[in-house]
Amino acid sequence: MSSRRPSRYHRRVPRKAPPAPVLEPGQTEYEFGIPIAGPIVPKEQWTQCALKRIPDASPVDWVSIFGREAPMVVDIGCGNGRYTIASCVLRPECNHLAIDSLPAVIRYGTRRANQRGLQHVRFAVVDGWRFLTELCGDASLSEIHIYHPQPHADPVAAERRMLTPEYIGWMYRRLTPQGKIFLQTDRKAYWDYLCENLPSLFEWTNIEVDWPDPPEFRSRREILSRKQGLQIYRGQGVRRDGVSPEEFDRLVGSMQQPTFKIEEEDF
Ligand SMILES: C[S@@+](CC[C@H](N)C(=O)[O-])C[C@H]1O[C@@H](n2cnc3c(N)ncnc32)[C@H](O)[C@@H]1O
Repeated sequence: MSSRRPSRYHRRVPRKAPPAPVLEPGQTEYEFGIPIAGPIVPKEQWTQCALKRIPDASPVDWVSIFGREAPMVVDIGCGNGRYTIASCVLRPECNHLAIDSLPAVIRYGTRRANQRGLQHVRFAVVDGWRFLTELCGDASLSEIHIYHPQPHADPVAAERRMLTPEYIGWMYRRLTPQGKIFLQTDRKAYWDYLCENLPSLFEWTNIEVDWPDPPEFRSRREILSRKQGLQIYRGQGVRRDGVSPEEFDRLVGSMQQPTFKIEEEDF
């Protein structure tokens, strides 16, 4: 048996989530005292928001999955889906897709979306890299949201960070003209990396106050980070259209890899 102590990089692994509360129609659900958007609807109005099987096609025909053509808003690494649920309640005119590689969190998001009778939202267990590179076509996404990407603070795991130059390039390709990215983290080193590398392909705005949305829109990680008194870094980027293929290759090629070190006081 190994006598190795757990690495300090694993201190922030979340505790097991408590069992789901039983909620009555019309009731507002709270998580850490912050409401989750949308009231619970009577059971006969519950929907089926799980996308259990991703079609083999590349790209996937998202219009047929959602049953309509509409701006597509994607939350990558959505966790328990708080942001997507709030956005879907506020903007039913958009198609919302929330993906995460962890089945347990997708189950939470799906159940909440079902119980709110939400239409035009799907939750799926999909890897974020596979989603952008294989499952969607160029100029097909209106918004990409990534809240608190896994920081992989342990230097051994740093190479698993999602927001690499290649990933930034894929976000650019998959967004529609004037498409937008919304990013947030509580790790300054990750933030500095993004602020240094995103502006060549996106008109980048560092949001120094809270998002204008009400607290329902806060992701679970944001709520926990605020409770711990951590600073939250937020930003929004609009795709710089008209970059030629040669310029695109040059810009992506000149970005650095996310090999930054996350200092102990940062987590
Ligand atoms: C720190 S949590 C943040 C979750 C949520 N966005 C929030 O702010 O509460 C990071 C999430 O990203 C997911 N994740 C990590 N790597 C991923 C990948 N390659 N593809 C999809 N999801 C990923 C994790 O399972 C986890 O749920």
